[in-house]
Amino acid sequence: MDKIYVHGRIPLRGQLTLQGSKNAALPILAATLLTEETCVIHNCPKIVDVHQMLHLLGRLGCEIRWENDGVRITGRTCEGESMLYPEVGQMRCSILFLGALLGSSKRVELPYPGGCVIGKRPVDIHIDALSKMNVDISCKDDTLIAQTKGMIGERIFLPFPSVGATENLMLAAVKALGKTQIEGAAREPEVVALGQFLKAMGARIRGLGSSTIEIEGGMPLHGAEFVVPADRIVAGTYMLACMSTGGNILLNEAPIEDMGSFFHVIREMGGSLQIEQQQVYLQAPKEISPVLYLKTEVHPGFPTDLQSPLLSTLCLAKGESCIQENIFEQRFHVVPWLTQMGAKIELLTPNLARVIGVEMLKGAQVKASELRGGAALVVAALGAKGETVIEGKKFIDRGYANICKDLRDLGARIYSV
Ligand code: EPZ
Repeated sequence: MDKIYVHGRIPLRGQLTLQGSKNAALPILAATLLTEETCVIHNCPKIVDVHQMLHLLGRLGCEIRWENDGVRITGRTCEGESMLYPEVGQMRCSILFLGALLGSSKRVELPYPGGCVIGKRPVDIHIDALSKMNVDISCKDDTLIAQTKGMIGERIFLPFPSVGATENLMLAAVKALGKTQIEGAAREPEVVALGQFLKAMGARIRGLGSSTIEIEGGMPLHGAEFVVPADRIVAGTYMLACMSTGGNILLNEAPIEDMGSFFHVIREMGGSLQIEQQQVYLQAPKEISPVLYLKTEVHPGFPTDLQSPLLSTLCLAKGESCIQENIFEQRFHVVPWLTQMGAKIELLTPNLARVIGVEMLKGAQVKASELRGGAALVVAALGAKGETVIEGKKFIDRGYANICKDLRDLGARIYSV
């Protein structure tokens, strides 16, 4: 069950409705711990990371029930929390349990959330920021121990607009005494979605989407219903697959307003876009134009999570492209596998790739080692001649609810066994 088989060079055609956003759903699910009332989260993607997060909420005593397109979560009483379950350390976003639990549990223990292949993924910004809110955090034998007699709102400057650290601070600040001001906050749409959910629960938050977020702590938080926005990274992945196969697709419920920098690159590559309300229609060009120089940036810049899928598509461009990865230290793991498929990619530095477009990629046996690199291998396989076998579907399933079915619905010959 961990392999995906792709028969490439079939133009994708058709329309698709996108899944909910993984990176919005995960912090929102953590936020349901802030109330003992019931929350209903609609359009929650059925992906591995969400199932894992729900499993952990269940272990904390929450009642979980999937209904139609969403999940119903009924809160739980919090005392001291020990989250020392092995599965906690496997999921990066488990660090959000600190912010979500410290408002009610004066002590939280958490396995240190491990790094992964895309980088060390430290949590120093989270720890420094929470420590300024009257939280004492220590690390012993790979366990984070956070204790507080009551969090106090503070004006906090983030040295880097970390998405997770901004989210952790928001989850803590709604339960802290007084006002918290986050300067240098992340502006990602997923942070905005978390803020909108917290406001639906009764929180007082200003500045969502800007670099300064103000939160009035201490408001009573109640249950809420919320619709998770569409996943902009899944949307971008499928559009790059369309570009790699010379097809044309229509995506419904696309998060148009959050994809400006990505659409700019699609147009630079020769893609033609028609946008109407929440629909985007893409006609791929006969020949893909190269992107002379692209760097990944924090929002609203080009998203790091679409860097690997873009790399795959640029392997087929008519000319030379350059991609610089500025967010994570090691996010070119997919390069050796693309090379095995006939791509010409040179790593000028560990975070600068030079891509010389080739006429054709050829199918091969390849292996995913992380989520977006795995998605990039699917994009490359769809544009390659012959059959590709991709091992490591489990990594792709962390963020794509139905990648094989979605792409089959667009005419691809792809299946998993
Ligand atoms: C979130 O990760 C996303 N994950 C990532 O998506 C996404 O790539 C990333 O934001 C950037 O947009 C979720 O939302 C679950 P960061 P996060 O804190 O919060 C460094 C995917 O494929 N840093 O903004 O971990 C860090 O090492 C995943 O869906 C510190 O140095 O990202 C990285 O280099 C991958 N110290 C950079 O900042 C810290 O305390 C960005 O990290 C925190 C982060």
